[in-house]
Amino acid sequence: MERLFAPTVSVRHQATVRYCGRDLTYFGGCDYLRLSVHPKLIEAAKKAADFGLGVAASRRTTGNHPAITALERELADFFHAESSVLMATGYGMNLALGQALSGRFTHALIDDRAHVSLQDATRFLGAEVRPFRHRDPNSLEKVYRERPSGARVIVLTDGMFPLEGTVPPLQEYRRRLGADVWWWLDDCHAVGTLGPKGLGSLENVGWSRHQVLQVITLSKALGSFGGALLADGATVEQIWDRSDCFVGGTPPPLPMVAAARASLRLLKRDSDRIRRLQTSVQWVKQQLVNARLIPEASPGPMFLISPNSEAATKRLRRRLLAASIYPSLIHYPGAPEGGAYRFALSSEHSEEEIGRLLAAIIGVASNVKGRGPGSGGRMG
Ligand SMILES: Cc1ncc(COP(=O)(O)O)c(C=O)c1O
Repeated sequence: MERLFAPTVSVRHQATVRYCGRDLTYFGGCDYLRLSVHPKLIEAAKKAADFGLGVAASRRTTGNHPAITALERELADFFHAESSVLMATGYGMNLALGQALSGRFTHALIDDRAHVSLQDATRFLGAEVRPFRHRDPNSLEKVYRERPSGARVIVLTDGMFPLEGTVPPLQEYRRRLGADVWWWLDDCHAVGTLGPKGLGSLENVGWSRHQVLQVITLSKALGSFGGALLADGATVEQIWDRSDCFVGGTPPPLPMVAAARASLRLLKRDSDRIRRLQTSVQWVKQQLVNARLIPEASPGPMFLISPNSEAATKRLRRRLLAASIYPSLIHYPGAPEGGAYRFALSSEHSEEEIGRLLAAIIGVASNVKGRGPGSGGRMG
């Protein structure tokens, strides 16, 4: 049961949560830029709420509110996409895209650790679904070569994997595959964290949008709520035309739409938060690699620490609580059986807080290169 029902945690302010009667520094969740508590987003949501909470109708009937179409235009502009479409969740957006693409591709090649929503979406494609080994260009190429002639291929992968903050080797993938291949990138964690302007995988690797379908969420780094697709106009039309999920569902609440618009305005003006986050991530990941706690300095703000026994799990929990840090042990698809501690940095964590986390995890002050206190031995 403990695995199904996680403890209740309430956010106090930028980097703190209330847990078991204590205020603890929080490195959980996906609010990587802490925009969900930004005064501008909250003010925008409050103002919008004065005019009603939701449209209470499908976009295809009477629910196509002008604030929603404005957000779609702004998303397309922000991400330099031809078009965009908004839905209530990122999960639903992946499903809706699967429905819209039904029959368009004959073969869907998917990373075998892709997010559950991508895996789920493949059921609608009417294509042969072939998994390839996680982040492995050789495996992808092998599966690709097995296609029959005339196959129409789409590759599905997370643009950033939510547990370790790793990214797929997109350049290498593309180098190995034909130019007619389409790409479906789930960038729910890459938006706001990858690329100088936080535009995600494409900005990070310098790809154009040609034959790329990018699914994002507004509910993580963008601090609001909802899901969206950035794509060519024809694919967006197909969502409106052919996706039961889209046609038969309600768009996100209007205060969240207003907050998302405020979020885009903020990030367009000033990418300081993104830069700060990326600087912290680089530094912290290098410390963790040096301490041999993670295998690579991945670019995402999150990392997993998997203690090798129940006793070690409890020891780390005690150590974290002693350092006033929320022990973010998670049980999630793709995480190790007994659970793992997932930590996520944000742009708003102070050096002191980050140092405290590293000291608690690594436990040896000298490994933390002068940041934060710490004592004791290596975790294990
Ligand atoms: C990789 C990935 N894709 C899609 C989703 C779904 O996004 P949303 O929470 O907006 O439904 C998530 C959410 O955790 C995710 O991690």
